[in-house]
Amino acid sequence: MNITVIGTGYVGLVAGAGLADFGMHVVCVDKIEEKIDSLKRGEIPFYEPGLRELVERNVAQGRLSFSTDLEDSVRNSLVVFIAVGTPSDGRGGVDLSAVEAVCRQIASAVEDYTVVVTKSTVPVGTNRWIKSTIQEQLAKQVEIDVVSNPEFLREGSAVEDFMRPNRVVIGSDSPKALAIVKDIYRPLYLIETPFVITNLETAEMIKYASNAFLATKISFINEIANLCDMVGADVHMVAKSMGLDRRIGPKFLHPGPGFGGSCFPKDTEAMARIGRDHDSPLTIVEAVIEVNARQKRLMVEKVVSALDSAPDNKTVAVLGLSFKPNTSDIREAPSIILVKELLARGARVRAYDPVAIDEFRREVGDEGITYASTAYEAIEGSHCLAVVTEWNEFRNLDMGRVKELMASPVVVDLRNIYDPAKMKAKGFRYLCVGRQVVYDTAPG
Ligand SMILES: NC(=O)c1ccc[n+]([C@@H]2O[C@H](COP(=O)([O-])OP(=O)(O)OC[C@H]3O[C@@H](n4cnc5c(N)ncnc54)[C@H](O)[C@@H]3O)[C@@H](O)[C@H]2O)c1
Repeated sequence: MNITVIGTGYVGLVAGAGLADFGMHVVCVDKIEEKIDSLKRGEIPFYEPGLRELVERNVAQGRLSFSTDLEDSVRNSLVVFIAVGTPSDGRGGVDLSAVEAVCRQIASAVEDYTVVVTKSTVPVGTNRWIKSTIQEQLAKQVEIDVVSNPEFLREGSAVEDFMRPNRVVIGSDSPKALAIVKDIYRPLYLIETPFVITNLETAEMIKYASNAFLATKISFINEIANLCDMVGADVHMVAKSMGLDRRIGPKFLHPGPGFGGSCFPKDTEAMARIGRDHDSPLTIVEAVIEVNARQKRLMVEKVVSALDSAPDNKTVAVLGLSFKPNTSDIREAPSIILVKELLARGARVRAYDPVAIDEFRREVGDEGITYASTAYEAIEGSHCLAVVTEWNEFRNLDMGRVKELMASPVVVDLRNIYDPAKMKAKGFRYLCVGRQVVYDTAPG
């Protein structure tokens, strides 16, 4: 079966390579020529574990190729996946201009029955709009069907998530289109992946409700952590014990500097907006957004409060710039707010990330920031070390060396990766999220 995947970002490229691995013939299309040229040379435009090998294998076996010629590829495909970006429009809604542009291009290209599958996260009702938008602009009157197939992969483990998903959601009104898309995912039946077959609106809603719920867990535990700081409780014990209750579960109960990334912030905003538009308020989601914004501000204050005088002329080492480990994606990363705020208050920043420095530099620039090539280089001469992203390599730093390198031994661990008692024993002033009073009152 010939498939076109439009958009070679985190979702499109992983999905394209994954579908090729399922045995399909896939052309991944993007409008950015340099991106396609570099993919043709075997270069992956972002960091994602295992993706290079997956792409290489399927290119070598002749099932995966890259093109900027959307019309040509669509004309030769039975199924077209849309995986373009759907960013926030800045007013709480979703910018669907990339989806709309793609619809126009699809309409001018199709010559036979085509199934258009939406992988991009789009508000409820968008798939019906996609169908009518394409139908209104068809150059040739042919039958098209639309399927909603939201993607749940996580950056950092995207390949594994795509190849072994928790579930596959397929929504459509067309039995023919449903059968075709189910057939594409047939290899997943063998590993007993649950399939959810439903209508368009339910599939669209599943994606938003899932992301909103995950974001809720994060904001919930962040608020609990802040309260733990005030009352002398240890949020790790609290979260662990909560998680032992199977109705709650242990996942996504890690306090930190607030959620970022390309999905949760914009998807919670969009979900809240959908509720308002339908006069069915999502009060919890609105609160999650507010809590998250506050958490990011609180974490800035935590770092500033760790400096024993005003931040001007102080140097802060920032470890971790990507919004989470194992990705180079910095969209909505808590590091951006922290670094910008520190710079605005006159501090100097020494920053290190294993893979995200180029992206961060493009977004935030060089002014006031020294980018280091190792964690230790970033730490050198700093008055405070802030751990913002929990890359594995930060877990095992030689703390003796860290202390020697620092101008003053102050660590603000926004991901709670170190043990408060051990950090104190090593002579650090140590601040974290929701375990503060435990450290202050720890014996010894
Ligand atoms: N990133 C994630 O973890 C994730 C997970 C699940 C769902 N999603 C959703 O998937 C969608 C894509 O997200 P992403 O992170 O891959 O986005 P991205 O910004 O990384 O990639 C989008 C790609 O689409 C391309 N594009 C835009 N318009 C085009 C056009 N007219 N023709 C061809 N290519 C075009 C862009 O050049 C870009 O390469 C979004 O709706 C997002 O919400 C993302």
